[in-house]
Amino acid sequence: MCNDAITRPVDQAIRRIRLEPTPRAARDARRFVSETLTELGHPDLVEDARLIASELITNSLTHAPKYPIWLSIWRTGAFLDLEVWDCSPEPPVYLDPDFFAEGGRGLHIVKELGTACGYTTFDHGKVVWALLELNKPWAHGISWID
Ligand SMILES: Nc1ncnc2c1ncn2[C@@H]1O[C@H](COP(=O)(O)OP(=O)(O)OP(=O)(O)O)[C@@H](O)[C@H]1O
Ligand SMILES: [Mg+2]
Repeated sequence: MCNDAITRPVDQAIRRIRLEPTPRAARDARRFVSETLTELGHPDLVEDARLIASELITNSLTHAPKYPIWLSIWRTGAFLDLEVWDCSPEPPVYLDPDFFAEGGRGLHIVKELGTACGYTTFDHGKVVWALLELNKPWAHGISWID
């Protein structure tokens, strides 16, 4: 991690936080997102990124409740990549929308807010990621058509 910070330009360095699997994890993740994106000069992405992080961290807490979770944020080209790593190799499942279901909405929120999202599994865990587009022209002011 230190090497990343040393060898990459500052806005491309990977920012990472390790979260213990406690009820505070989602709150700490949201705070980390706010601080990191503000520092990187992307305050317009803070709200969406906080929501995405909340949903992904909550999922990791549910499915890998005994192990730490890592949240990484880094810039790749025109996108900000938000990644949540956990120690369950089970993949996330994008459930069909069901009005009457109690759950199954989290990944829909992530997909709606992100430009793209996906995951990669490993023997002992996985990463679920979402890309947020940097500098969307409309993010600086929305005009409504009467
Ligand atoms: N980190 C994860 N590890 C393993 N399985 C996951 C993970 N995240 C999601 N899943 C699977 O994908 C499904 C859909 O996740 P999603 O977040 O959309 O819904 P949910 O967590 O079940 O409910 P909600 O987020 O609406 O409270 C989950 O029910 C679970 O089976
Ligand atoms: Mg969920």
